[in-house]
Amino acid sequence: MRHTHMNRRDFLKCAGAVATLPLTTVELAFADADRNFTFAYISDAHIQHIQGTKFVRNWDRGLIRAVAETNLLNPRPDFVVFGGDLAQLGKKEELDHGAEMLSKLNYKMYGVLGEHDYYLDLGEYWSKLYGPHYYSWDHKGVHFITLNSILTYDKWTFERWPSAEQRMNEMAGLDNPNGSPFMVGETQRAWLKKDLAKISQDTPVVLFSHSPIQKIYKGWNFWTEDAEDVQAMLESYKDVTVVYGHVHQIQYNQIGNISFHAVMATAWPWPYPQSYAQAESHLPKLTVPMNRANPFHERDATGWQFIDVNSGRIAMHYNLSDNTNRTVKYNPDIGKPEDSFYQAASRQVAPQQHY
Ligand SMILES: [Fe+2]
Ligand SMILES: [Fe+2]
Repeated sequence: MRHTHMNRRDFLKCAGAVATLPLTTVELAFADADRNFTFAYISDAHIQHIQGTKFVRNWDRGLIRAVAETNLLNPRPDFVVFGGDLAQLGKKEELDHGAEMLSKLNYKMYGVLGEHDYYLDLGEYWSKLYGPHYYSWDHKGVHFITLNSILTYDKWTFERWPSAEQRMNEMAGLDNPNGSPFMVGETQRAWLKKDLAKISQDTPVVLFSHSPIQKIYKGWNFWTEDAEDVQAMLESYKDVTVVYGHVHQIQYNQIGNISFHAVMATAWPWPYPQSYAQAESHLPKLTVPMNRANPFHERDATGWQFIDVNSGRIAMHYNLSDNTNRTVKYNPDIGKPEDSFYQAASRQVAPQQHY
């Protein structure tokens, strides 16, 4: 498997396409071209019902625009993933309205459950629309896994709240101390173990979850309680990529052989928790220097992304509404994801210009 070198002129040519098509990709060529493919990712639409046929317009517009742009992609992605939080408060009206907008996608779509879809009826209605809460499939030599990572302790889910509505509302708050840490849970971990046993160690694995399968910041539930257990199950596989939503911001990281990439939201950006810098105990093992989008721009981190899978490692192309577009991709030379402008440039002589 060999990457053809993409020179600066080629990159500029690709970047130039951004002006006409907000969602774009840079396709890398391989010795075995049959293995190249792309898929698109849309996440965190948070469709919110007001009353009757009224919904919060901004969130609707974000999803409508993402769907329309995804349908215009060239090359066509092989499939689309919706990364969770389709609804704001898990209501049937919200899921139906969101599903109606997503049904306009001209591609097969895979769904991931978010906590906003789940905690009203424990994912029952979501399942009617999108099927099982966790599953796997193979595509062109890559093993894809979708987990429901937003479960929590049974006591919290089943015993603490007098009504399903209150349970949903408590989990919906970003920094609500009445929330409870997310987890994949024992049942799914047992399933995952069996699922992974079916593939060889050198099969590329791409795992989708809603919450990060790493511990980033517990106070805002940017957190999965059994993250280490899931990571341990993946550690013997050669190429593992985890893609997650939920955090509504650009994040990437590398833990051992696993590279992590967050996808952005179509609804709104979350700010970056101050504790990233201040509370050492809350920091994940950040092994990759990260250049984030600017959280002071209102729509920052709500742009579109396109994902390339080539040798099984993912490259994320961020087309930001109000900031410099960027690409973060796995660099086999250093064994980590890298921002192609900032990190790659900093390893060379002074960067010349922005693109
Ligand atoms: Fe969300
Ligand atoms: Fe979420």
